[in-house]
Amino acid sequence: MKDIRINKQRLWDTLMEMGEIGGTEKGGCCRLALTDLDRQGRDLFVRWCEEAGCTITIDKMGNIFARRAGEDDSLPPVVMGSHLDTQPTGGKFDGVYGVLAGLEVIRTLNDNNIKTRAPIEASVWTNEEGSRFPPAMVSSGVFAGEFDLEYGLSRADLDGKTMGEELERIGYAGDLDVGGRPFKAFFEAHIEQGPILEDEGKKIGVVTDAQGQRWYELTLTGQESHAGPTPMPIRRDALVGAARIIDMVNRIGMDHQPNACATVGLVQVFPNSRNVIPGQVFFTVDIRHPDAKVLEQMDQALREGAERIAEDGRLEMDFKQIWHSPPVPFDKDCIASVRKATEALGFSYREMVSGAGHDACYISRVAPTSMVFVPCEDGISHNEAERASPDDLAAGCDVLFLAVVQHANH
Ligand code: GLV
Ligand code: MN
Ligand code: MN
Repeated sequence: MKDIRINKQRLWDTLMEMGEIGGTEKGGCCRLALTDLDRQGRDLFVRWCEEAGCTITIDKMGNIFARRAGEDDSLPPVVMGSHLDTQPTGGKFDGVYGVLAGLEVIRTLNDNNIKTRAPIEASVWTNEEGSRFPPAMVSSGVFAGEFDLEYGLSRADLDGKTMGEELERIGYAGDLDVGGRPFKAFFEAHIEQGPILEDEGKKIGVVTDAQGQRWYELTLTGQESHAGPTPMPIRRDALVGAARIIDMVNRIGMDHQPNACATVGLVQVFPNSRNVIPGQVFFTVDIRHPDAKVLEQMDQALREGAERIAEDGRLEMDFKQIWHSPPVPFDKDCIASVRKATEALGFSYREMVSGAGHDACYISRVAPTSMVFVPCEDGISHNEAERASPDDLAAGCDVLFLAVVQHANH
């Protein structure tokens, strides 16, 4: 088994073909969850998997499972996968690599006429990004019992369209119950999305943990008023309050180095007219840290600081934490399989903590799970300039292949 290699060119061509769906001028990809483009991407994946002899099932959250039968098909499957949805200015690799690496493992097993003892599945998890429908990882979260089905289906985008409606519309509201079936193990291959592997010249990241994160939605309300006649001292400018909180969020991140991250990525100003003092601002906050205690301190600093700033500006504040995903330790045996596969293939590696959230984080609650990282150029992701080399992508897929086959035959 150690001598079998996945097909590097086929993996690359498959990634490039998927990347054309929603492909952007700058070479990235915009395929937001449950849009028509997401449907096209899903259709293509399903077609490829059927051509590879897989049986497709789809659950009520639109999660897709492509199954390659095992010698003993009654055994729980070893599952690989990630997501096909992207950020609005996303790349061709985030998520997509983990899905298509899974397909490439199946194709390689077919090429070599290998029958595994347990079945193997390649999976697609709906709306991992949480960009269109917050929070992130929502459908793997329903699968793992973090959220109930009703919560998942009722997540809405900024226009009020729900995941349930959009799943129906694009034809991916499946009939399978979400979760409730065992996986022998789950492996997610992914680009690192940070600079560490590239900086250290390492080929593979053996992922031991993922950091915790909390998401918030804040609305500040002041008073709309004329930009000319309204004297500065009496203004209740919601955007000034938001700007102060945004600066504070950045400082909270800087004050909890190393490892803390703190971001405001979405701001909506009402009425957004140049000669009206902004009366209302809606914005989001994303804070992350690998240590739950530090994340808690950051949470406290955010709550207290936002309260103070709102009060000083005589603004009303609606402050909601909408999501908390605690730090995740991955499974020791699965981590060891990834390490052993990497060593057997002779690739350089380092152990690392994932800075991003992944479907693997939730799946780890219901199945032994770990991840394989490969370097990405300049550590850039959630950007159309996201790049990874065909060699590194193939190396990660070879590691995935070995780890998965070992687990399926164990
Ligand atoms: C998922 O892409 C995340 O924001 O970590
Ligand atoms: Mn991802
Ligand atoms: Mn992402």
